[in-house]
Amino acid sequence: MSRVLIIGAGGVGRVVVHKCAQLPEVFSDICLASRTRSKCDQIAGELKRPIRTAAVDADRVPEVTALIRDFKPDVLINVALPYQDLTLMDACLETGVDYVDTANYEPTDTAKFEYKWQWAYQDRFRQAGLMALLGSGFDPGVTNVYCAYAQKHLFDEIEFVDILDCNGGDHGYPFATNFNPEINIREVTARGRFWEAGEWKETDPLSVHQDFDFPGVGERRAYLMYHEELESLCRNLRGLKRIRFWMTFGESYLTHLRVLENVGMTRIDPVEYEGHQVIPLQFLKKLLPDPASLGPRTKGKTSIGCLLEGVKDGQRKRVFIFNVCDHQECFKETGAQAVSYTTGVPAMIGAKQVVTGAWKQAGVFNMEQLDPDPFMADLNRYGLPWEVQER
Ligand SMILES: NC(=O)c1ccc[n+]([C@@H]2O[C@H](COP(=O)([O-])OP(=O)(O)OC[C@H]3O[C@@H](n4cnc5c(N)ncnc54)[C@H](OP(=O)(O)O)[C@@H]3O)[C@@H](O)[C@H]2O)c1
Repeated sequence: MSRVLIIGAGGVGRVVVHKCAQLPEVFSDICLASRTRSKCDQIAGELKRPIRTAAVDADRVPEVTALIRDFKPDVLINVALPYQDLTLMDACLETGVDYVDTANYEPTDTAKFEYKWQWAYQDRFRQAGLMALLGSGFDPGVTNVYCAYAQKHLFDEIEFVDILDCNGGDHGYPFATNFNPEINIREVTARGRFWEAGEWKETDPLSVHQDFDFPGVGERRAYLMYHEELESLCRNLRGLKRIRFWMTFGESYLTHLRVLENVGMTRIDPVEYEGHQVIPLQFLKKLLPDPASLGPRTKGKTSIGCLLEGVKDGQRKRVFIFNVCDHQECFKETGAQAVSYTTGVPAMIGAKQVVTGAWKQAGVFNMEQLDPDPFMADLNRYGLPWEVQER
């Protein structure tokens, strides 16, 4: 029995709330708080059991600590935006609450995500006897746990990892992003980066691709990108020689993105327009479809996994560990499409490992540093079943 405070009532927040509400024996009391309270109330109205809702500005530590002191949660799940990670970690430290998130901190004025800001909280969380679980979404999150599972059960040494993320769904819009457009476009337009032989190597944005046969979807073109789990996995996997991340994009998405970039609409620096300071990417976000509204329109499947190559008992082997998730099934269950679902379910499962004690330790942790077995069992139990294919 535990009390959970969920911050952020977007696409992912909706799924976290639905999934926590399905487990009253673990999450006995739920509070959903976000910038816009009406969005929390709307989600609360869809549930079979009552939950509390609140308005909170997660950029303001005193507002969050006041809410925490009032609701007294055991764990806080941050599914607002990565900009709020540090203020929410501060609030957790001040009030003695465990912390879980799905995306690592990035400052608003630089499109750069790194773990250094959150890893810097290690000593404070350890001394306070609290846990901060970082990146408990799908990627990062489940992909890290797949690697930990492979390291524990399938390999003596993992030499090569390719994380492959395919959204084979179609929402019918010429251009829309599947999660927060600002965060998504910042990520996709960044330079590619991968780790090889102990060094980081850079590529021009979306300049390297390979075709891959995704289970449940078929062959798709995947583009090399930088993604945050590479930063922790390259430290935590034994014998690693190379790790890369790939994501699929359709032609229409790429063409729109190229045009938006060329005309300056993806810029994140302020531009003066008729006496106002406008950040083009934030304005673009206003114009694009709200990812939360894609749920009813999106058909098809996501297929995300880790292709791992290495050695077991002197033999070379190559396996793909993956999940296939159906957009319409996710919508039926939670009112959200599969990109939100595949992020929200692991956030609930991560929080469950913390509050039940299965993972609870003092300090700041990335997912692969913890025992993968209870998390992998819960993926099968709560809607994201996985398979291992020899390739
Ligand atoms: N690891 C993964 O696999 C993965 C995949 C996808 C997404 N993510 C992460 O999941 C998180 C949520 O994504 P999403 O698609 O649900 O985004 P979203 O739909 O934009 O939802 C974000 C929510 O946070 C709220 N919020 C923003 N700033 C806030 C503040 N200062 N105080 C309180 N609430 C605030 C927003 O409020 P308003 O409604 O008022 O704007 C919105 O309800 C993001 O951090 C994203 O990077 C992780």
